[in-house]
Amino acid sequence: MKVLHRIRSSIKMFFELCYWRLKKIKEGQLTNYHYKYFYTSYFSLPDEFYKDKIIMDIGCGPRGSLEWATMTQRRIGLDPLANQYLKLGADKHSMEYVNAFSENMPFPDNYFDVITSFNSLDHVDNVELTCNEIKRTLKENGILLLIVEIHHKPQLTEPQTLGWDCIGRYFPGFYVVEEKHLKEVQKHFIYRNLRSNIPLIDKTQDGVLTAMIRK
Ligand SMILES: C[S@@+](CC[C@H](N)C(=O)[O-])C[C@H]1O[C@@H](n2cnc3c(N)ncnc32)[C@H](O)[C@@H]1O
Repeated sequence: MKVLHRIRSSIKMFFELCYWRLKKIKEGQLTNYHYKYFYTSYFSLPDEFYKDKIIMDIGCGPRGSLEWATMTQRRIGLDPLANQYLKLGADKHSMEYVNAFSENMPFPDNYFDVITSFNSLDHVDNVELTCNEIKRTLKENGILLLIVEIHHKPQLTEPQTLGWDCIGRYFPGFYVVEEKHLKEVQKHFIYRNLRSNIPLIDKTQDGVLTAMIRK
């Protein structure tokens, strides 16, 4: 069973890397200017909120998701493809990259002030283990910012199907500061869907969940 799981995970990572290599060929340079809005204004968090904080972005991708966060004490992107992403231009970034799976984070308990997972929780191999690691490594009163697609069918690089109830299910006891359920206007363009900001009423439909929760 473990062998099967490892093979499935390797195939997933291969296709994930192909996706980013193609993106790099298409775009020339993988830009990151769009991220700051989603870490700050979108969640009504001012830049000062991040001053001297230790922040980790899970499944950060190769674009430099935390390049804007120069005011933090430490800003870490965790991704099992981090070493590969360095070869796609991430080596030029000033944020730190850690090559690891979210199911087993190489950090002590109660370490992070802020953890973020943007368009990555449905990509991991095991949601429960990932959420347990988030709970372990987040400080008391630490903040989790989550952006995730809900109800899509499992795909090669997005094997997990999450429900609208995922916050209560995986983070019981956390305080929900803000939670939004939004319509998917354009499939797979998660950030465009957030900018459209159309609330989803019918919870049997696909969509995007965004949340700020406190441990
Ligand atoms: C769609 S990309 C999102 C990148 C970035 N967060 C963004 O929004 O632009 C999903 C990322 O999740 C990563 N990923 C897949 N499995 C993972 C795991 N088990 N632990 C952490 N990251 C994982 C992939 O390598 C990929 O970089």
